[in-house]
Amino acid sequence: MRKILTLSSILGLIILASCSGPEQQMTPKQNWTPKLNQPSELALIMRDMHEESTNRKNSLEQGQLDPTLSETLFSMITAHPTKPHMKGEGFEPYAKSFIGIYNQIHGAEEVGVQIQAHNNMVDACIACHTKFCDGPISRIEKLYVR
Ligand code: HEC
Repeated sequence: MRKILTLSSILGLIILASCSGPEQQMTPKQNWTPKLNQPSELALIMRDMHEESTNRKNSLEQGQLDPTLSETLFSMITAHPTKPHMKGEGFEPYAKSFIGIYNQIHGAEEVGVQIQAHNNMVDACIACHTKFCDGPISRIEKLYVR
C-alpha cells in the first residue's frame, strides 16, 4: 500500500512537470519508467524560454531592458514533442503568432514598452498552452510583470 502511495505521488509530480493529458493520468504499468531524463526537443526549447522569461522579468522589475534574444525558440515549429498529440492541428499558427509577439520584445526601447510586450508574450504562451499543454500554466502565469 505504501509503495502504491509513493508511486502515485511520484506520478503526480511528473504530471505537474509536464502537460497533463488523459493518457498521463492512468495508473502506472509494470514496465512504466519515468522519462524525466529524456526531455523532448520541444520540451527543451520550452525550458529555455521559461528560464529566459524569468530572467527578463527580473531585469524588468529592476527597471532594466533585457536584450536577450532566443535562438532556439524559432525551431519550435519543427521540434519533436514528447507525444504527437501535443502538436496537434493548429499548433503552427499559435507558434507563428507567438514568434511575432516575441519579436516585439526586442523592438522595445523603453522599459515600460518592453514590460507590455513581455506580458503580451506571456498571454501568447498561455494561449497555446490552454490548447496543447495545460499542465505548466500556473508556472507560466508567474512570469507576468505586474
Ligand atoms: C505554440 C505553442 C506553445 C507556445 C507558444 C508555448 N508553449 Fe510551452 N509547451 C508547448 C507544448 C506542446 C509543450 C509540451 C512539450 C513536450 O513535452 O514535448 C510545452 C511545454 C512547456 C513546458 C514544460 C517543459 C518540460 O519541462 O516538460 C514549460 C515550462 C513551458 N512549455 C513554458 C512555456 C513558456 C514560458 C512559454 C512562453 C514564453 C511557452 N511555453 C510557449 C506549447 C507551447
